[in-house]
Amino acid sequence: MATTSSKRSLASPRVTAASAATPVAHRAVASCRVSWDVKLSAADRWRAALEAWAIPEAIVASASQSPWIHPPALFDVPKSIEPSPSHDRAREALPSGGTVLDVGCGGGVAAFALAPPAARVIGVDHQVEMLTMFRANAVDRGLSVETIEGFWPAVADRAPVADVAVAHHVAYNVADVVPFLAALGAHARHRVVLELPDRHPLASLDGAWRHFWNLERPDGPTPEDLLAVLDEMGIAAHSTSFVGRLRAETDLDQAAHFTRIRLCLPAEREAEVRDFLVAHPPSTTRELTTIWWPAGPGQSD
Ligand SMILES: C[S@@+](CC[C@H](N)C(=O)[O-])C[C@H]1O[C@@H](n2cnc3c(N)ncnc32)[C@H](O)[C@@H]1O
Repeated sequence: MATTSSKRSLASPRVTAASAATPVAHRAVASCRVSWDVKLSAADRWRAALEAWAIPEAIVASASQSPWIHPPALFDVPKSIEPSPSHDRAREALPSGGTVLDVGCGGGVAAFALAPPAARVIGVDHQVEMLTMFRANAVDRGLSVETIEGFWPAVADRAPVADVAVAHHVAYNVADVVPFLAALGAHARHRVVLELPDRHPLASLDGAWRHFWNLERPDGPTPEDLLAVLDEMGIAAHSTSFVGRLRAETDLDQAAHFTRIRLCLPAEREAEVRDFLVAHPPSTTRELTTIWWPAGPGQSD
């Protein structure tokens, strides 16, 4: 499927700053207000849509730890990796014995789904626990492995060029997305493959934010917005959508623990969060999009 143009191409979000004097619940709602204004670039729209996810200052200040967590256990590689268009699009561009660069690798599900034919995997992540899992998973599979700790693209000059570069479930963490995407392209000989959910991963907590903080969360950006950024960069990307399993904590107590942290609530409210999760069970599936484009001298697809 060819790149689609963004439905929002004529309008741009402007995040309305919250007043420091506004009471917490009121300010929480005000801080997420987005109005559609003069035309911005697709890259600026991507940034603004992600910045709208900022949690109001007063709520963050009340939290005992950062709510922006990626618990490593959630991103380990399952015993059996589900087939997906993302894996298919990457595999078809990989030579036998080829190399995969997995950016924001977590435990490495995106890379290990490709081995074989891949024989060498390079994992990049800013969380050292993720890289420890990635390395152990590679050793278990008898693969040649390299890990690079740090933020992409700041660490890109330490990464070798691979046959295929993949980044699954990372784009919504990256406000400055143009250098992120450009560095992926510069480190792939054949193809770059991204996977991202159609809605921001924290959208599943919309109801909980409303319930606990009277806070409305934003609803962008979307894969379509990322395609618009690629288009603006002169990259003719392709995309396809599919339905996949939603990765979530399977243990209710653990889910309540991480959800309570994501909601900036104190430990004594964990039981309340648990009750909320029982009353509002999350969906087990979600819509996902694979985005891919040719890289390197061949640029054949
Ligand atoms: C949602 S997890 C996805 C992990 C893995 N790709 C997967 O699909 O299971 C996102 C991962 O990206 C990492 N990450 C986010 N932004 C990054 C960046 N700019 N550079 C390197 N790692 C990043 C996080 O530490 C986390 O391990």
